[in-house]
Amino acid sequence: MGSIDYLERIPNNVDLAGNRRLQRALEEWQPRFLEWWRDMGPEGYQARDVYLRTAISVDAQGWAQFGYLKMPDYRWGIFLAEPEPNRTIAFGDHKGEPAWQDVPGEYRGTLRRLIVTQGDTEPASVEQQRHLGRTCPSLYDLRNLFQVNVEEGRHLWAMVYLLQAYFGRDGREEAEALLERRSGDRDKPRILGAFNEKTPDWLSFFMFSFFTDRDGKYQLASLAESGFDPLSRTCRFMLTEEAHHMFVGESGVGRIVQRTCEIMKQHPHDDPRRYGVIDLPAIQRYLNFHFSVSLDLFGSEISTNAANFYTLGLKGRFEETKKTDDHLLKEAAYRIITLQGDRLVETEQPALPTLNERLRDDYVADCQRGVDRWNRVIREHGLDLQLGLPHRGFHRAIGACAEVRVSPDGRLLSQADWDAHKREWLPTEADQVYVQNLMKPVTEPGKFANWIAPPARGINGQPVDFEYVRLV
Ligand SMILES: [Fe+2]
Ligand SMILES: [Fe+2]
Repeated sequence: MGSIDYLERIPNNVDLAGNRRLQRALEEWQPRFLEWWRDMGPEGYQARDVYLRTAISVDAQGWAQFGYLKMPDYRWGIFLAEPEPNRTIAFGDHKGEPAWQDVPGEYRGTLRRLIVTQGDTEPASVEQQRHLGRTCPSLYDLRNLFQVNVEEGRHLWAMVYLLQAYFGRDGREEAEALLERRSGDRDKPRILGAFNEKTPDWLSFFMFSFFTDRDGKYQLASLAESGFDPLSRTCRFMLTEEAHHMFVGESGVGRIVQRTCEIMKQHPHDDPRRYGVIDLPAIQRYLNFHFSVSLDLFGSEISTNAANFYTLGLKGRFEETKKTDDHLLKEAAYRIITLQGDRLVETEQPALPTLNERLRDDYVADCQRGVDRWNRVIREHGLDLQLGLPHRGFHRAIGACAEVRVSPDGRLLSQADWDAHKREWLPTEADQVYVQNLMKPVTEPGKFANWIAPPARGINGQPVDFEYVRLV
């Protein structure tokens, strides 16, 4: 059960060979994907052997196999979690009906838009990260970056499979467009803001993996509840891959924090920058930036789209099936923070239009747990400092707070106040130049850049000084 056929040109567990039309469509798309990967994938390492994991089954146990592989030879394919027998729709107007094995005609456009929006983020992050290999802090980190990149490529396959299999000609056109948009491009940008930002250095990469990939986790988790069963099964398997991306982010930032604390302990009266590490205030500013742009990805606090997605059974809440309410939410209320006049106040709202905010709440709580673990590292070094999440209204471009200026501790500010303090709260040009100057490649097995601590252990039981990428 769940095993994947690697003899096929496109590895899959969806019996692609049994659907000639679809197989042909995907085989036509495959060379264009590879062309995109060569043009926009990791720069400079395409011919190197990388110690990568590949999915060999979708079972919880033993789905991964590790070995050296050149990235263009990675077996991108289509893997869905095992079907849940007799699965029914868990929420909304269709609650209790059998899950859809095909797209209900009237929801076609809405579903396609949801899938395209999710799909667009996958290649976008690969594009954002394509130059990072040049400045890797170690072979261990280089390998982790590439693992994330090939899996984001596979996530694109996951969404393209749905488009090609269930959305006919429109789906085919969307599959092409996913390879044509480019992160940060002025004329044909990626769909969502955070995916057009630059990822110029490894601190940004780790913050991105922690905060922005985690948005992906929450979007995928709520799509995994979808009444459209193929989408649900696709997302359930993607979530198993996503967990590693968040590990990379959390442990990466944690190791930077650890190294900084070691230096602060040794040299309590000096500027940590004198010793070539990243000071905690700068780490906090990067955190503020990445958290705030990731919050925007959840959309407006009050959204009729969010209400419709739920009522129609297309997108559930985080852990929908574990909740014990009526799963209709027509009578329910939910408390959110809104802007009233010149004040931020908590108000009670009808539950359905606030579903974006509810998902954002789940996300914020999850982020906070990670920040708590970083703070534990600081405390263990006997230092009396803390990192924290800024207020959710801080530095927002979407939602009620997009129109106002909010400080990290949640005070509404005048433009003049904001301008006077912004440098304390968001990465400055000087921070960016400083961090950029630290980015010197370290490629000897077992060696790490000075600004980051080695990990506690290696990958898949290998030692930390394992040759994770073969450079010759
Ligand atoms: Fe992804
Ligand atoms: Fe990811």
